[in-house]
Amino acid sequence: MKNIVLTGIKPTGQIHLGNYIGAIKPALKLAENDEDQAAYFIADYHGLTKIHDRETFRTLTYGVAATWLALGLDPEKVIFYRQSNVPEIFELNWILACFTPKGLMNRAHAYKGIVDSNKLAGKDIDDGVNMGLFTYPILMAADILAFQANMVPVGKDQIQHVEIARDIAESFNHQYGETFVLPEYIVDDDTSILPGLDGRKMSKSYHNTIPLFEEPTKLQKLINKIKTDSLPPEAPKDTETSILFTLYKEFASVEETEEMRKRYENGVGWGEVKKELFYVMNRFLEEPRKKYNELMANPEQIDAILAKGAEKARARTLPTLEEVRKQLGVSR
Ligand code: ADP
Ligand code: TRP
Repeated sequence: MKNIVLTGIKPTGQIHLGNYIGAIKPALKLAENDEDQAAYFIADYHGLTKIHDRETFRTLTYGVAATWLALGLDPEKVIFYRQSNVPEIFELNWILACFTPKGLMNRAHAYKGIVDSNKLAGKDIDDGVNMGLFTYPILMAADILAFQANMVPVGKDQIQHVEIARDIAESFNHQYGETFVLPEYIVDDDTSILPGLDGRKMSKSYHNTIPLFEEPTKLQKLINKIKTDSLPPEAPKDTETSILFTLYKEFASVEETEEMRKRYENGVGWGEVKKELFYVMNRFLEEPRKKYNELMANPEQIDAILAKGAEKARARTLPTLEEVRKQLGVSR
């Protein structure tokens, strides 16, 4: 049997370089393997736990879809869809909720994090928490289990969610017999955490991102904002601690990277490195950016691709739900 590799990205912010290096690039690499079936989707209803503005929601959702496509996702090969187009996921979400101990949700990192910061701030522990956010891991379990996915590539912060999906599946299987495939997470330890403008992890929560498809002049300006030290140009520089170098090697060829390493050793001005960084980044991003802008200007093209993808997705989720209903004793 083919492996089913499934992952989702929620549309809660503009896709940045960190998302590309940490999530999209490795997922596209996995999808090249013909032995496996990849299923990648836009977790738009997960985004709804945060985004409550129609235009923002629409734009961010199309933005995630256009990003995948612009970077080379082949919708003929990958099952590529919008979560909200697959109703079985939401039916399963309810069913799974009935098998999820509330305590398991209390312990989920994202919710626990909010409770802890509310406590610190002397607020009500549930301040700002909607039920969608509280039960977020159940919907994620439904995404995975409806598809009978066995491999789930995620960032480290999502490991707990995949473990929760597994726990819920086990508890269902225990009661009703083998129904769900137990999923495993794949975390790529080689993928670097990309630093942002201030040197912390690039994240939309820190407002330190470089959006992937920023226009060239803005991209150049953002690169110029990256923090450096005050060493003079002729002083030798350390590649290990340089944000500029970390970014440079993601986009430059092996030879270019080696050449830059030498220049660091011999002393190079930060202004010059920033110029070179812009050059290699822009060289890589130019084509995808064009494609991205084209797609964003023609969202009906994106809709058509996602509608086809949803059909393929439902060909997998419907049989799962039929089986689940049968096990539960639900007649139709
Ligand atoms: P953000 O931190 O901006 O909110 P998300 O949590 O939505 O990003 O992350 C979406 C995906 O991108 C996850 O798989 C995550 O591991 C990856 N990712 C996010 N930021 C980085 C980064 N700076 N370096 C590498 N991967 C990242
Ligand atoms: N929760 C994931 C994130 O924040 C996105 C997501 C939703 C997901 N459903 C999923 C990832 C199913 C993997 C599998 O990054």
